[in-house]
Amino acid sequence: MIPILELKTQYAEIREEVERAVCDVMARTHYILGPEVTAFENEFAEWNGASHAIGCASGTDALVLALKAVGVKPGDEVIAPPFTFMATAGAVSSIGAQPVFCDVEAGSFNLDPAQIEKHITPRTKAIEVVHLYGHPADMNAILEIARKHNLKVVEDCAQATGALYHGKKVGTMGDAGAFSFFPSKNLGGAGDGGMVLTNSIDIDERVRCLRGHGSRRKYFHDELGTNSRLDELQAAVLRVKLRHLERWNEKRRAVAAQYTAALQNFITPPPTGAGCQHVYHQYTLRTSRRDEMMAYLNEKGVGAIIYYPLALHLQQVYASMGHKLGDFPVTEKAQAEVLSLPMFPELTSAQVEQVVQTVKDFHSQPVQAG
Ligand SMILES: Cc1ncc(COP(=O)(O)O)c(C=O)c1O
Repeated sequence: MIPILELKTQYAEIREEVERAVCDVMARTHYILGPEVTAFENEFAEWNGASHAIGCASGTDALVLALKAVGVKPGDEVIAPPFTFMATAGAVSSIGAQPVFCDVEAGSFNLDPAQIEKHITPRTKAIEVVHLYGHPADMNAILEIARKHNLKVVEDCAQATGALYHGKKVGTMGDAGAFSFFPSKNLGGAGDGGMVLTNSIDIDERVRCLRGHGSRRKYFHDELGTNSRLDELQAAVLRVKLRHLERWNEKRRAVAAQYTAALQNFITPPPTGAGCQHVYHQYTLRTSRRDEMMAYLNEKGVGAIIYYPLALHLQQVYASMGHKLGDFPVTEKAQAEVLSLPMFPELTSAQVEQVVQTVKDFHSQPVQAG
C-alpha cells in the first residue's frame, strides 16, 4: 500500500525538534501572537525574499485578507482560474466581490495570460493567480497585463511554497501572496495556518489591522476586520519545518524526476516551464484513460487521486454565473485527464518504483472495450 500522502515518516525524523519547540510554547504560556509568530513571520519573509509576512488562521483567510488589503471591495471583479481548489474563488465571493473565471494553460494548468484581457471590464480590480500543484504561473506576462490595466495581483501560493520563477520565490512578485500551512502542504503545520507575504508596508499594515478586528490600537476599531491569527504552537512547529523545507522540496523533485523518466512513454508527465522550479505539491499527470487507470492503481494499493474532478465554473455553488460545459475547454480537458500519484519527500526509490511498475502493468493490460 502506497498512500498519496503520508506524514508519519516525516514526523519521526523531526520529532525531537518539534516536541522541544512545542514544550517551550506550553511552558511560556503565551499562546497567541507571541515570540514564535513574530520569529516565524520574520524567518518566512526572509526565506522567501519578501519584506513582510503576516501570520493568519488559514490559507483561505490569507487570500481574503490579501484581497481586502489590496483594495478588493464588494462588487469588484477578480479574474481567477476555474481549475483550482474552491478556496481561490470562495475567498473572492466571501468579500462580496465577483470571481470572473479565465481559462488555464494546457501545460502548467495555470492562468493563461493570452486569455486574461478579454475578461477585463471597468469593474475588474485584481487578478488572482494560482501556482497550481507547485508550478509557478507565467508571472511576467500576468504582471505586464496588470500594469497595463492598473490591476492588483494576488498570488495563491497555497500549493507552491518555495517554487521559483526566474529566480524569485512565488508570493513575492504580485502585490501580495497567500500561503496555506494545512498539514498536507509542502510546509504543513499541525493544524490550520496561513500567511500573507508582501513587499508593501501599506499592505502589511492593513493585513495586520484586518486580522485583529480592524484594530490598530487596542480596543479602537477603524474598520470591520476579523479574528484570524496564527497561533504560537503552529508557528513553533512551522519554524522547525521551515528549516527542512528546501531539502524536502528537493526530494519531491527527485521523486518527480524518477516518475517522469520511467513513465513518459505511457502518460503525459507534468512539464516544467522555462525559468521555473517546480515544488511538486502534487505530481499530476495526464492520461486519456484516467478513470480506468485510477481504479486500477487504487485496487493495487497505490493512492491516486483526481485534483480536481469538477472545475469551479461548473460547481453548484456558482450555478448562478450561468457557465456551461465548453466555456473553458482547456480546464475541462484537464479535469477529465488529470491524475495525481503519491507524492511526499519521504517516498523511497523502491516505493516510487512500485508505483511506476503498477502504472506499467496497467498499460500492459488489454484495453477494455466500450
Ligand atoms: C490552491 C489553494 N488555495 C487555497 C487553499 C486554502 O488553504 P487552507 O486550507 O489553509 O484554507 C488551498 C488548500 O487547501 C489550496 O490548495
